[in-house]
Amino acid sequence: MCGIVGYIGKNNARITLIEGLKRLEYRGYDSSGISIHNGNEIKTIKSVGKVSNLEEKINPDEFRGNLGLAHTRWATHGKPSIENAHPHNAGDITLVHNGIIENYQEIKKYLIKKGHEFISDTDSEVVAHLIQEENKTKEFEEAVRDALKKIKGAYALAIIHKNYPEKLIVVKNSSPLVIGIGEDEFIIASDASAIISYTNRVLYLDDNELAILSPTNYTVKTISSNKSLYKEEQELDWSDEQAKKEGFDHFMLKEIHDQPHSIQDAIRGRIDMDNGMVLLGGLIPIEERLRSINRIIIVSCGTSYYAGLVGEYMIEEYAGIPTEVEYASEFRYRKPLLDKNTAVVVISQSGETADTLAALKEAKNKGALTIGIVNVVGSSIARQTDAGIYNHAGPEISVASTKAFTSQLSILTLLTVYLGRQRDMSMVMGKRILSELQKLPSLIEKILKEEGSIQKIAKKYADFENFFYLGRKYNFPIACEGALKIKEIAYTHAEGYPAGEMKHGPIALIDKNFPSIVLAPKDSVFEKTLSAIEEIKAREGKVVAITTEKNKDLSVEDTIFVPKTLEILTPILMTIPLQLLAYFVGTERGHDVDKPKNLAKSVTVE
Ligand code: AGP
Ligand code: GLU
Repeated sequence: MCGIVGYIGKNNARITLIEGLKRLEYRGYDSSGISIHNGNEIKTIKSVGKVSNLEEKINPDEFRGNLGLAHTRWATHGKPSIENAHPHNAGDITLVHNGIIENYQEIKKYLIKKGHEFISDTDSEVVAHLIQEENKTKEFEEAVRDALKKIKGAYALAIIHKNYPEKLIVVKNSSPLVIGIGEDEFIIASDASAIISYTNRVLYLDDNELAILSPTNYTVKTISSNKSLYKEEQELDWSDEQAKKEGFDHFMLKEIHDQPHSIQDAIRGRIDMDNGMVLLGGLIPIEERLRSINRIIIVSCGTSYYAGLVGEYMIEEYAGIPTEVEYASEFRYRKPLLDKNTAVVVISQSGETADTLAALKEAKNKGALTIGIVNVVGSSIARQTDAGIYNHAGPEISVASTKAFTSQLSILTLLTVYLGRQRDMSMVMGKRILSELQKLPSLIEKILKEEGSIQKIAKKYADFENFFYLGRKYNFPIACEGALKIKEIAYTHAEGYPAGEMKHGPIALIDKNFPSIVLAPKDSVFEKTLSAIEEIKAREGKVVAITTEKNKDLSVEDTIFVPKTLEILTPILMTIPLQLLAYFVGTERGHDVDKPKNLAKSVTVE
């Protein structure tokens, strides 16, 4: 999720590592740590908070050597603390990890039986112990490879061994990792920004590949085979700024492109396909209480509020529990009626939004069961809810929320199936929804490939000052989110509206200068949406339709296609073109899309 740096070579590793951590600071993190091999042993030091806190704690004489690892952590398992910060150590093995180990609980149980003792709550420490266990009978590299064969999940790992002061092993699966090739030195990192000031010769590992580095050369192999592979080195001509954004022009665009991964990370290890069930570790303590819940209130703000609206439709249709959604800023002051059979689900990317936090307190005071859907581990909302589900979407840097939103929708889908299966949802239905959910990352990839045509449409409409965003049923909230995005990024007036409500008033605004973006997937309300489109066209309004398939009845100015999926999952796919539209209109208008005017990433005031 966050940052890794590793060094092996002729120079003092500490200097490169600290410099590298500072260059990765922009990614956001909660703690950091560093390990240096001084030729005889590995020294480790960790700190919570800023990299400068870590730097202050280091005694340069003690931390001197030509091999080392460093890490900034963005917690997924266990709160931000010194114990949970990386590097993690087990016997001779020390490692840093970015990502999520899916089957860590199973492996941890196995290792505890074998006498291993753990000091952190992380999934990462388990990997260190598993390698140590394998290392009892195998040499370092083979132990790493055999341990990884047992691990499921997403990881970039950098691993060192006390008895090998000239060896650094790095491995990648789903999480990013790049190897910088210098003169008799290698710098490995999560992104090129930590490397670019040393060298522009880099090597990208593909998934399931590992590299064994010595001060003067490297070998690349796969986890499953001991044969060395030929890998093409690349020359980067990126500036430091471009490197941070992995070549994208803005964090917003990078985060839009992150979505196949962030959705994968939201559902990783949480689906039991054989039984059509959902495994949510955070809900285990309240599992029984959730069976007797007869009402749900979802409370949130902004984009997270729109995710809640989709959640309402999902939960009522598939789990059969009456659900309402409220703006946190309203809920906190309006004396809501709550009791112990009500669950209040609080959705927040940051986990620090003041209104949402106050609403949570209100819900707790009134005895409701509180559940968080939060991205930032250990944040105030995460700490104060009775139970929760983390998004695992990774840090979201751009002020406008993109990947956190589709992650929230994915988690709400999991929650719906979880609650539904506790009640009347059949196993077949559970399996159906979950298997379609698993397909979304690849469907999103397909939409992202159409970026060029969405950009053209954005250019065509960039000068309009007003837009309607219309949708029905599951896609009404997505229309609202699309309108919010273009307001935030392009400073364009846009109204998100239920397509069927248009004729009750707002249609008076329609003319050739007031285009409508209409979400019209081929779903149970497709025909109804077509009627709204006809009403707009009859008043000379231009329509951009986002739909799932060609249809002769859908004749509009511009069309964007998204792949087909289940109706309850269409909101996730529909969101992607709307994010891109907002992004391209914003950039076309020359705005600083990552830092829109008047907005803050986390609204910690009323
Ligand atoms: C999203 O693009 C916004 N910047 C904003 O509406 C945001 O979603 C809202 O402030 C809630 O934030 P939270 O999810 O961190 O609580
Ligand atoms: N899952 C690991 C942890 O919680 C790694 C998090 C990260 O990528 O920073 O410690």
